[in-house]
Amino acid sequence: MSESTSRPRGLDGVVAAQTRLSHVDGQNGRLVIGGYELDELAGKTTFEQAAHLLWTGTLPTAAAAAELTREIAARRPLPAPVLALVREAVARGAPPIDALRMAASAMSLDVPNPADISPAADVANAKMLVARFPTVVAAWIRLRSGAEPIAPRADLPLAANFLHMVTGREPDPIAARALDTYWVTVIDHGMNASTFAGRVIASTRSDMISAVTGAIGALKGPLHGGAPGPVLDMLHEIGTAANCEPWVRARLAAGERIMGFGHRVYKVRDPRAQVLSRVAEQMSGAQLEDRELFDLARACEQTIVRVLDEVKPGRNLRTNVEFFTALVLQSLGLKPETFVALFACGRAAGWAAHVIEQHAEDHLIRPQSEYVGPRGLTIPG
Ligand code: ACO
Repeated sequence: MSESTSRPRGLDGVVAAQTRLSHVDGQNGRLVIGGYELDELAGKTTFEQAAHLLWTGTLPTAAAAAELTREIAARRPLPAPVLALVREAVARGAPPIDALRMAASAMSLDVPNPADISPAADVANAKMLVARFPTVVAAWIRLRSGAEPIAPRADLPLAANFLHMVTGREPDPIAARALDTYWVTVIDHGMNASTFAGRVIASTRSDMISAVTGAIGALKGPLHGGAPGPVLDMLHEIGTAANCEPWVRARLAAGERIMGFGHRVYKVRDPRAQVLSRVAEQMSGAQLEDRELFDLARACEQTIVRVLDEVKPGRNLRTNVEFFTALVLQSLGLKPETFVALFACGRAAGWAAHVIEQHAEDHLIRPQSEYVGPRGLTIPG
């Protein structure tokens, strides 16, 4: 094998950066975020506290957490041009992840010096982006249903305020906690494609808003943004636990993939699935319909893993984060078309942390390509 053909395709296994932010241990199914196991963080810290951990390296004191929550709350309202853009996106049928990408880019309009990449400017822009993203998604949801957006409330944490902006009601504390835990669970995940995209942009000394906008573009692709919508379709199609095995066997025989299973890095159950399964179970207590779906999902999970082991031996296909994400988000009354944008709302804090880290590193990421095209062509005449 020549040196060039031995290079890993798609940078598989290549260490592209050193990071203190998160570590994905695929063999043992562990995710470390800022030094804490996911299980230690999720459910015990708020999203704002976890963002503080990533942006500064430590969990905040109670006073610092309250201050960050206030600062993020103050930055939630959308400037008029950004809201106008979201309206236009909805009018033209753009999905929420596209509306978010357009809105993110336009957020540089009211930043005095968007090219400033000093640590102070990076943190200020991180707070602004994390604050505004849920406002964009909530506005999209309202406008899409023919209603007017609801202004954010400064007295609520990020997740509770999002639910308020969607429903106009006082947010249910259990639902707000479920969304908060979801956003902590997806806050960062090693050198995934969107994080890498953001770091490449930041490595050119480009700014926070540009880097996070680019990361949204990478997340949007179906190989990354994932499959929680199709997971719900699949469960509804399966319908009953008894129907699961014949359904899965038929799909595998037809060469199809089972949504919510398998992962490039995890070869055991994704630790995020563990956390979100608990959250989905808590949420499923509230409504009979959700309970039935949760019970079906748990029964199907066991059946699907068993059948995958039999039909695809040695591939170690296990439940991934998307399987229970679908259950958690639908139990909050959110539609599958919004799921990728909601993922971006949580991951934005992680992207921002990587941009801060990359700016401190200050080294251009610039790999090479292997030219396989023709040579020596001439232009006739
Ligand atoms: N159902 C059935 N078979 C599968 C599945 C699945 N969900 N996932 C992988 N396989 C099989 C492949 O067909 C292949 O079989 P083969 O060796 O007989 O050809 C083998 O397992 C390896 O597949 P790869 O594509 O090489 O595995 P990779 O690690 O690249 O794939 C991925 C990871 C894309 C997540 C894949 O498992 C998949 O498509 N899963 C379903 C979609 C999904 O759940 N996506 C969300 C992922 S989580 C996230 O992105 C945040």
